[in-house]
Amino acid sequence: PRSKTIADLQALKHHPDGSVPIVCLTAYDFPTALSIRSADIDLCLIGDSLANVALGHTSTQPLSLEAMIHHCQAVKRGLDAPLFSTAALLDGVDLPRPPLVIADMPFGATFGSLDFGVAAVVRLIQESGVDGVKIEGSYETIPLIQRLTDHGIPVMGHLGLQPQRVGSTSGYRLQGRTAQQAKEMLDAALALEQAGCFSLVLECIPTRVGEHISKKLSIPTIGIGAGSKTDGQILVMNDMIGDLTGAGHVLAQLAEVDSGNGGGAETAALPKMSELTPPAPKFVRNFSLPLGTSIGAMRVAAVQAYTAAVRERRFPDDDVEGYKIKSDEWKAFL
Ligand code: KIV
Ligand code: NA
Repeated sequence: PRSKTIADLQALKHHPDGSVPIVCLTAYDFPTALSIRSADIDLCLIGDSLANVALGHTSTQPLSLEAMIHHCQAVKRGLDAPLFSTAALLDGVDLPRPPLVIADMPFGATFGSLDFGVAAVVRLIQESGVDGVKIEGSYETIPLIQRLTDHGIPVMGHLGLQPQRVGSTSGYRLQGRTAQQAKEMLDAALALEQAGCFSLVLECIPTRVGEHISKKLSIPTIGIGAGSKTDGQILVMNDMIGDLTGAGHVLAQLAEVDSGNGGGAETAALPKMSELTPPAPKFVRNFSLPLGTSIGAMRVAAVQAYTAAVRERRFPDDDVEGYKIKSDEWKAFL
């Protein structure tokens, strides 16, 4: 089936019967990409959180362009793979359309001259086949974004918490919590829209600020820790399935985003293991089956449960997973 497009995402925000939440999720390798294809995900991001969750770094800064390309290629192979299992799993239902695929530009890859940044973006797209890129940052990113979008390259912006700036922000913290910060973020968001971004990620900001910026922009906003009122949601795959390590885990350890241990849990129906695993050779024994299921089945169940929860507006729950802005700051902002 035909992959999702920017136009599809815009249409979800501006649906005549009311907006439909945009479902996004990260992937980093072949198996995570396969699980993405088991659900109707609108956008798949190869986030530079891969530095944390797949490579074990304590920040996103060590990630090289080469490493990002290497992982994007693996994800693309997963998204494009003939699906041995998910067709059966979905019980005769048509396979969902593959998502739009966006890759993060790694730290430093776009910091030099315009030509340097353009070359890095073009190389990533040509060598990995992703549809477009995400560039973290504010006004400093605009000349490059303008140039890329002038050439028809899809670019997503990223405001709020910017993990690539962990040094200068002295850790990972809630952003946009004062009137001044919220105002600056709104202005930057409008400037990014003006520069041609097709969408904007908002990370770790109060729910009301996420809602307000989303209303002011005509491009779709995708929130992570930005409340239930952004046009779409994204999570880091490894955080969402509760893997041994995750970006959220690293963030919580390193600084004071919050003292929480993640929001609520969701009960997912487990697909049958037999429908999910290609036949293995005789010498293989599956040691996860005695535990009740396979890792693959759990991943698929979680991706499907997440997709349903976002689309039905059951995730996030602002009381549990959202951040508040003080009412005097909010009034001063408006
Ligand atoms: O790197 C990442 O995964 C991101 C997100 C928006 C989750 O930038
Ligand atoms: Na990122």
